[in-house]
Amino acid sequence: MFLKNAWYVAAWDHEVSCALTGTTILGEEVVLFRKTDGTVAALENACPHRKLPLSMGRLKGDDVECGYHGLTFDCAGACIKAPGAARIPPAAKVRAYPVEERYGLVWIWMGDAAKADPSAIVPVANWGDPAWGVNRGESMVVECNYLYVTDNLLDPSHVAWVHQTSFGTAACEDAPLETTVEPTGVTVARWMMDSPPAPFYAPFLPFSGNCDRKQQYEVRYPAQAIIKAIFVPAGTGGEGRSLHGDAFVMDSYNFMTPIDENRTRYFWFQMRNVAPADEKISEQFAVSVRDAFAEDRVILQAVHWGMANKRSPNLDLHIDKGPLHFRRGIAKLIAAEQAPEVALVAE
Ligand code: FES
Ligand SMILES: [Fe+2]
Repeated sequence: MFLKNAWYVAAWDHEVSCALTGTTILGEEVVLFRKTDGTVAALENACPHRKLPLSMGRLKGDDVECGYHGLTFDCAGACIKAPGAARIPPAAKVRAYPVEERYGLVWIWMGDAAKADPSAIVPVANWGDPAWGVNRGESMVVECNYLYVTDNLLDPSHVAWVHQTSFGTAACEDAPLETTVEPTGVTVARWMMDSPPAPFYAPFLPFSGNCDRKQQYEVRYPAQAIIKAIFVPAGTGGEGRSLHGDAFVMDSYNFMTPIDENRTRYFWFQMRNVAPADEKISEQFAVSVRDAFAEDRVILQAVHWGMANKRSPNLDLHIDKGPLHFRRGIAKLIAAEQAPEVALVAE
């Protein structure tokens, strides 16, 4: 069960070319390709005749020819050629999905095309600002339900145990967490005062000694997270105070696209307010983030397996407050989308 009326990341822009590329999103088979004008099109990846994936066919200009018997579809999904038939059968059509390119990513709308509003794509603060560096991330497939990833992103406490060599320090273990629930999603945040910087961040900080550190994890429906990390010299941090001139800020953007109920494709990139043009630092960030996310992947896959095969009830802890709010919120949105009348009566 997924929220359909939402934008999901389908691919990095460089992954889509004039070759037909099949992918699976929310359990639906989709074929992506670039049209002659360079824009991206997305069609249902199954010919209506014998369901051969259209990705096994040929791109002819902006049209896709099935590789089995030549039914040909335009990029709106209409059949424009049916070899050997006196006329084009009315059922010969495939679904076309709205797509948008933004932030180096290809976004796809999986629900009612009439509701696709590009302004609903997650905004990326400071995008295009030369004072901010970007490390274009990557993606990885995690063999778990996407809600285990959103659980993980709303649970900073795991940092102390899963990421001991990267993001974590002992200060991460007990700092209290502020949880905010909004119609768009859930945010958890905390300040950790006067502690040594975590190994991942230490080389990038423009000051030495201990730091005050803010972690803020905002996870938006359906499954998109903006993680803000702020480091300032110890004694200068805390809620409501203006940022110290030497503040290091990193915004990490994380976009989870369910492949199906058991697999998630996780896309990410980071923005930073230091050394914006330094390619070496961008590369260092990319490598460090990849290594840290690989640590999450191992845990999340094992958790998915453990929860799917549990022999006894699992336990929820205080640290699950944010994740459980998020799960309740997304479940409500999915229920309202699937049976809008019932949801209205229930309210
Ligand atoms: S399977 Fe596509 S035309 Fe027959
Ligand atoms: Fe993590």
